[in-house]
Amino acid sequence: MVKQAIIPLAGLGTRLLPLSSVIPKELLPINGKPNLEYIMEECIQAGIKKFIFVVPKNRPSIKKYFFNDKFYKNIIKKKKNDKRLKKVFGKIKRYQKMIKFVYQNKPEGTGHAVLQCKKYLKGTHFLMLLADDLIVKKNCSKEMIALHKRTKGSVIATKRVERKTISRWGILGFKNKTKNSFLINEVIEKPKLIEAPSNYAIIGRYILPKKILSVLKNQSRGKGGEIHITDAIKTLIKNNEKFYGNIFKGKYIDCGTLQGFVNSGHKISKYL
Ligand code: G1P
Repeated sequence: MVKQAIIPLAGLGTRLLPLSSVIPKELLPINGKPNLEYIMEECIQAGIKKFIFVVPKNRPSIKKYFFNDKFYKNIIKKKKNDKRLKKVFGKIKRYQKMIKFVYQNKPEGTGHAVLQCKKYLKGTHFLMLLADDLIVKKNCSKEMIALHKRTKGSVIATKRVERKTISRWGILGFKNKTKNSFLINEVIEKPKLIEAPSNYAIIGRYILPKKILSVLKNQSRGKGGEIHITDAIKTLIKNNEKFYGNIFKGKYIDCGTLQGFVNSGHKISKYL
């Protein structure tokens, strides 16, 4: 059973500057709600019970967003009849029970973020989501968990991308393709067009085996001096671990670039 979700939240948000210079990109509102909440709702609907947020110690805003009881209690005391306020606080309280924080003080990569969660990971597999990638209308995490249950393998969310954008993504090579999935036999992070085995890209949802931790522990730093999850996945595939691509049915919204973020509010209101 996949019950835990890791959400790396220690990135610098460079592609969203200056918006992300004060507010972490994951808290920037999209149609009235931070994208982190959209991601959490997707997970909860898919049966996730615990979140592990990987944050830098010196950036307290995400913690404060979810753990600010005193602030809410004070306002509620003053505005006793405000039903909306109580509802909002009720939701925050429900989230609180599900969240654990671990720390990554410098952006050292998604693989490094996963390593920081070691102590808390239970079970054979866990979910990891990148908050830059919203998928709406159809629950991608739910589809992935179903594929994992069926195959017992690991799963990566994927969609076809325009060829001219290939060098922006992790790209998958595969076999045994059906309408909604395939067996992955290659992963290349941000390849040149001529190196790309397909135009199916990794979108930020992964069901990973706990054994990836031992690969990550011994992995040398890759591009930009970071420990990349893609490199660990590559090693596991070489060692015959089964990874499946889930060609998700929902609508993809890019929230990690300024242009994507600018369009996201409009897109989400169209889709939901
Ligand atoms: C990350 C992953 C990449 C994936 C992308 C999806 O890249 O490394 O494989 O395709 O997310 O958004 P980043 O966006 O951090 O450059």
